[in-house]
Amino acid sequence: MKIFKSFNVLNKEINFNENIGFIPTMGSLHEGHLSLIKVAKKKSKKVIVSIFINPSQFNDKRDYIKYPRNLNKDISILKKLKINYLFLPNKKEIYNKGIKKKLVILRKDKILCAKYRKGHFEGVLAVVNRFMTNINSKYLFLGEKDFQQVFLIKKYLQNKFKTKIISCKTIRNKNKLPLSSRNKLLSKILLKKTENISKLLFNFRNTVTKNFKNIKLLDFYRSKIENLCDKIEYFEIRNPTNLSKKFSKKNFKIFIAYKINKVRLIDNV
Ligand code: PAF
Repeated sequence: MKIFKSFNVLNKEINFNENIGFIPTMGSLHEGHLSLIKVAKKKSKKVIVSIFINPSQFNDKRDYIKYPRNLNKDISILKKLKINYLFLPNKKEIYNKGIKKKLVILRKDKILCAKYRKGHFEGVLAVVNRFMTNINSKYLFLGEKDFQQVFLIKKYLQNKFKTKIISCKTIRNKNKLPLSSRNKLLSKILLKKTENISKLLFNFRNTVTKNFKNIKLLDFYRSKIENLCDKIEYFEIRNPTNLSKKFSKKNFKIFIAYKINKVRLIDNV
C-alpha cells in the first residue's frame, strides 16, 4: 500500500485513466467502512482510502478533540485489505492559502443535522469539494448512514465533477445498531440502550407502513426513545427523494439525532 501526504505526489503516482474508486473517511475504521471498501473493490480496479479528520465540519471543538483516532490500527487494517493507496493529508495540505473551509448551502437545506450542527455540512462540502477537485477517481463511495450528507454532496457537487458518487447501504450489528466510529465512545450499558433505540425505529417504520395516517405514533415512539437517551435533537419522517415533509406510505424515511452521555448519534431507517 502506497501512502501519500500531498495531492501533488498522489497525482504523479496514480493513473486516473484506470478505474479508480475513492473512499474518503475520518479513520477509526469499522465494519461500515469495510463494507464500502468491499463495494469499491468490486467496482474499481484500484482503491484509494483517505483518512482526514476535517476540523471545519465540527461545530463543537470538544467533539473534534474527542473524535476517536486509531491511525496505526487503521493502517494495518487497510494493508490487510490490500488497499492500493492511502491518502493522509494534514490540515495545511487541505486548507492551504485561498482554500475555503466552508461552502454555502441554501436556507431550505438547513433541516435535520444541518439545522442542529451549524456549519457542519458547509465544512463537509468544502473538504469533499477539495478531494474531488484533486482526486479524479471514477467513483466516490459514501455510506447511507449519513443520508443527508450523501444527499447534499450529490446535490451540490455531483454536477461539478465526472466522478460518480455511489451511496452504500448502512451496516448494522445484530441488534440493528448502525456501525459508527462514535459507538466506540459508549459503555456496554449505553450501547444496549442505543440498540434498543434502533429496534424501536424499525418497529416504528413497520407501524407507519401499516398505519400511515396515525400522527400520534410519532409522539408515542418519541417518548419511548426519550426514556433511553439524554435528549432527542430531531425525530422526523421525510421523503428520502427530496427530504421534504411530503412523504408517502411507500416512500418515507425516519430520521433521528440524539445524545446519549454527551455522544451524538444519528440514524435513518
Ligand atoms: O462521513 C465522513 O466520514 C466525513 O464527513 C467525510 C465524508 C469523510 C468528509 O470529511
